[in-house]
Amino acid sequence: MIPNTVTLVEVGPRDGLQNEAQPVSAAHKVELVHRLQAAGCREIEVTSFVSPKWVPQMADNAEVMAAIRRQPGVRYSVLVPNMKGLEAALPTRPHEVVVFGAASEAFSRKNINCSIEESIERFRPVVAAAHAAGLKVRAAVSCALGCPYQGEVSADEVERVVRLMKAIGADHCGIADTIGVGTPRRAQAALERALKHYPLAEVSGHFHDTYGQALANIHASLALGVQVFDTSIAGLGGCPYAQGATGNVATEDVAFMLQGMGIDTGLDLDLLVDAGAYISGVLGRSPVSRVARALLARRGVALNA
Ligand code: HMG
Ligand code: MG
Repeated sequence: MIPNTVTLVEVGPRDGLQNEAQPVSAAHKVELVHRLQAAGCREIEVTSFVSPKWVPQMADNAEVMAAIRRQPGVRYSVLVPNMKGLEAALPTRPHEVVVFGAASEAFSRKNINCSIEESIERFRPVVAAAHAAGLKVRAAVSCALGCPYQGEVSADEVERVVRLMKAIGADHCGIADTIGVGTPRRAQAALERALKHYPLAEVSGHFHDTYGQALANIHASLALGVQVFDTSIAGLGGCPYAQGATGNVATEDVAFMLQGMGIDTGLDLDLLVDAGAYISGVLGRSPVSRVARALLARRGVALNA
């Protein structure tokens, strides 16, 4: 069942940076995207078209999209929470848009200020308009393995949102462990619900690594045949509406594990480490990625704790 090839969707520029309190310039974000594509990333989530009052770090979304030197074969995606976001995103020519709902009511309200049902009604015209513009739509289901407000989230609650996303026509379903509390069997249970409604190639795992479980969850997902995962360079990130949540699993860590398993990702690990060191330097710290730290230490680079 374990796939021979895996696609990593690089979410560092968006999920990784959105929670940074210090402003990161558009030029630094663009340079990060350039370094990621040079390292072999073929799917890059660049930014989000959300309210700048809610997430100030992403306010330069159009500027970043305009400045990217597009590389053939690379797909650029952006988050859009509503029609206003889609209308702002379309002129910037993304290949894909991501609508993001939640399996828990409480998180839906905190993150996007509406109920699950209302969010689906907001996404419905977004999906239709994105399709009319020729774009693919990915749906993210946040808090699929636990919620910072509600606590436990059942597989039934996950499936309810998966079914709703499918009904409005989302092409892909990402199962997201927003706060990194999931463990392998729970990750499998949630993914199995998504796989009841979506084909294998259109289900992905998005695991934050807060509790150090993300690699184990990815391994468990591979056993189901899942072949797409979101990862964040250097382990950057968190979610502004999930206090204490750390970044997505680091791209370098997943690339190292998959390489060791003989699974092709098309990524150049050394160039990924360079990209992670670059953006970590911009932020004034060392990468969180264990693999990046090990490889940088071997290069003789001094690391902060
Ligand atoms: P709202 O306040 O309910 O929206 O926010 P509204 O429609 O009432 O509009 C209020 C104001 O926002 C208006 O401006 C609108 O024009 C503006 P004002 O008249 O006050 O000046 N507005 C917008 N501006 C720019 N772009 C837009 C937009 N929409 C409205 N698209 C809204 C609702 C969804 C906009 C808000 O709650 C929001 O932006 N939330 C941000 C959520 C977010 O970005 N969260 C982080 C990303 S999700 C994530 O990280 C999870 C994920 O990684 C998976 C996982 O790990 O779980 C994907
Ligand atoms: Mg996330």
